[in-house]
Amino acid sequence: ATQGACPFRGSRIGGAIGSEPQLDTWWPNRLKVELLHQNPIQADPLRDQNYAEEFSNIDYDALKADIREFLTTSVDWWPSDYHNYGPQMVRMAWHSAGTYRIADGRGGAGQAMQRFAPINSWWDNGNIDKSRRLLWPIKQKFGTALSWADLIILTGNVALEIMGFKTFGFAGGRIDAWESDRATYWGPETWQGDEKVGHPGEMVNLNKRWEGGPKEEHWDLENPLGATHQALIYVNPEGPGGSGDPVDSAREIRESFARMAMNDEETVALIAGGHAFGKSHGKVDANKIGPAPEGAPMQAMGMGWQNPEGTGFAQYTMTNGIEGSWTPNPTQWDNDYLTNLFKYEWEPKKSPAGALQWTPVDSDAPKTPDAHIEGKFEPLMMMTSDLALKTDPAYKAICEKFLEDFDYFADAFARAWYKLTHRDMGPVDRYVGPEVPKEVLPWQDPLPQLDYETVNDSDVAELKKSVLDSGLSVSQLVAAAWASASTYRDSDKRGGANGARVRLAPQKDWEVNNPQLLAETLQGLEKIQSQFNDAQSGDKKISMADLIVLAGCAAVEKAAKDAGVETTVPFVPGRTDTTQEWTDGESFEWLKPVVDGFRNYRNEEVSYKVASEHLFLDKAQLLALTAPEWTAISGGLKVLNINYDGSQHGLFTDKPGVLSNDFFSVLSSMEYEWKPQDAHELMFDINDRQSGETKFTATRCDLVFGSNSQLRQVVEVYAGSDGHPRFVRDFVRAWHKVMMLDRFDVPEARAEA
Ligand code: HEM
Repeated sequence: ATQGACPFRGSRIGGAIGSEPQLDTWWPNRLKVELLHQNPIQADPLRDQNYAEEFSNIDYDALKADIREFLTTSVDWWPSDYHNYGPQMVRMAWHSAGTYRIADGRGGAGQAMQRFAPINSWWDNGNIDKSRRLLWPIKQKFGTALSWADLIILTGNVALEIMGFKTFGFAGGRIDAWESDRATYWGPETWQGDEKVGHPGEMVNLNKRWEGGPKEEHWDLENPLGATHQALIYVNPEGPGGSGDPVDSAREIRESFARMAMNDEETVALIAGGHAFGKSHGKVDANKIGPAPEGAPMQAMGMGWQNPEGTGFAQYTMTNGIEGSWTPNPTQWDNDYLTNLFKYEWEPKKSPAGALQWTPVDSDAPKTPDAHIEGKFEPLMMMTSDLALKTDPAYKAICEKFLEDFDYFADAFARAWYKLTHRDMGPVDRYVGPEVPKEVLPWQDPLPQLDYETVNDSDVAELKKSVLDSGLSVSQLVAAAWASASTYRDSDKRGGANGARVRLAPQKDWEVNNPQLLAETLQGLEKIQSQFNDAQSGDKKISMADLIVLAGCAAVEKAAKDAGVETTVPFVPGRTDTTQEWTDGESFEWLKPVVDGFRNYRNEEVSYKVASEHLFLDKAQLLALTAPEWTAISGGLKVLNINYDGSQHGLFTDKPGVLSNDFFSVLSSMEYEWKPQDAHELMFDINDRQSGETKFTATRCDLVFGSNSQLRQVVEVYAGSDGHPRFVRDFVRAWHKVMMLDRFDVPEARAEA
């Protein structure tokens, strides 16, 4: 403290907790195993909460009334445009949901990640910090019974409603996260911008699109991660790289919205629906705008983009850079957006902030009122991305249909908005609240209701016996159950064993599932199913979805027993079997793994920039596994011999099908040396150090458990002289957890697993 005036420049203390350099600085390509332990229970002040229950007890009408009332007020520190916060709140909700990408199910509105870096600081999310602050009194009033994630989407809905639009419905049940998500790869653009977060004055330039900002140089698919992993929530409104070309813009929109799982009609409905409301803000040179929230000074109290011009808000607001409104009535649901887009010719113009936008050529085009100054009127505005809807032939045809039939357009927008804002919530079992629509939609991966009596303990024992006597091998049974359950991804809560979609296209034909062997296993199980079901009087049944899991459990018990450990694998019945008709093949195809180290699968059609073990970690994270669970499951499945192609890689045992801890013993033993088969270092020989004889072969996904320092510590636990029983216990627990991941129909049993 005596060293000088600046408290951060002391000569004896080089840095505080976590200061760089850190592991990632020294080894930027290290496997970040700690990503499996994000958003931990310790970070959650509501760890004991049953959110769904608390939300259902809310006075929902009172909540909606409060939101309605707030929307038409105005506060001094951020006055509403047109005396209506509606449009600003619709944009907030759209941006919350619009980060979703179908490729890995990450992003989306589900956890209100918009509150955390980097998303809270994206230029695209400019001034959405204000929208959330405006909502704080409502959040505060309803407390923990109302998550931010639900409030953000519900406010978007109520905003649409007060402006005359009939929404399709609303479901609550989104549970807030408590820390930034570091697992999601957003694409190189944000990285560029983020480097500067915290350095006032520098970041703004980098974030500004129209001068050296993040351009879409990386628009080409980055395999395999690239499909939807872009920094921008959607696309550059000025066209790719600020080109101002509506044709290119249309191409970009189509690609970007497809990554959000939206087709052409949904895309047009969303853009034309959304831009019926509000305005864009571009009154001030972006260079003057302060740093984004994450890099803002202490006194900004978490808000960013401080604007020094005039009051810094109302008629001085600077958000995106483009200035103006699309319609003459920006707080009223109508078809003016499309009407004017098509009725008038548009010519390019610069906004006061210097952004490229379009203005009507015709002088008789209607004007739109100034958002703050009474009696002042402005010309209408379109963005390059809006003109794309008129330029692209397929979009144009849809617009024409919407122009002819406003009710059809309204219905299309309502459904697309509902899908946009709910599609990352997973099964409808997670939906709560009085406004959940009755209609079931294909993107919800529907399952039939449980309408039969489920099996009891003695039925389970009988079925396990039939399975083990059937001639189907332990490996086959484990492989089928794993293929069925392991499609689950915790990001958007899709996939899993329920529904038995493993019997249906496209899953049954995936190479990773070894289709021929799988078909044989399923045939065997179907026989057992019909024998059991035929023998029942009354409406007791076993579904295939249940039987596939139960058969896997029986096989694990046998494999443990053969290794000398008696164990019972928990089993919770109640799954139902869905149909091909109810399975959206295109959308299910995204659940196909790119790399599945559990079965030593690597899709060779995809050219990788990323090593297999990183994609395996990605898969483990989507399965919500911890490092010990990942290790136990991997080592167990290896000795249970379920490689997709029947290969022996990673089969470090002479007792395949037995749940030994041999995988860990070999990995930790110095009796062996590990040699890459070629310069690609994809495949390895495990040689006896003495004789030089090749004992085993392995992939990167096998050896990573011995090579990575964090995983190796877990391997040592299971390889120890006392490690075997612990391994079997941990394997069984992790197995049960995976089998239960999609069981939102039985939340307590799922939580216990
Ligand atoms: C505003 C771009 C799609 C709803 C804006 C703004 C931009 C923009 C640049 C101005 C932000 C500001 O300066 O305040 C785009 C692009 C899209 C797109 C490029 C896709 C190609 C959507 C969708 C919705 C939507 C799908 C909702 C369904 C809105 C609303 C506003 C807005 C309501 C007005 C916000 C306000 O008045 O404060 N959009 N948008 N947009 N956008 Fe979009």
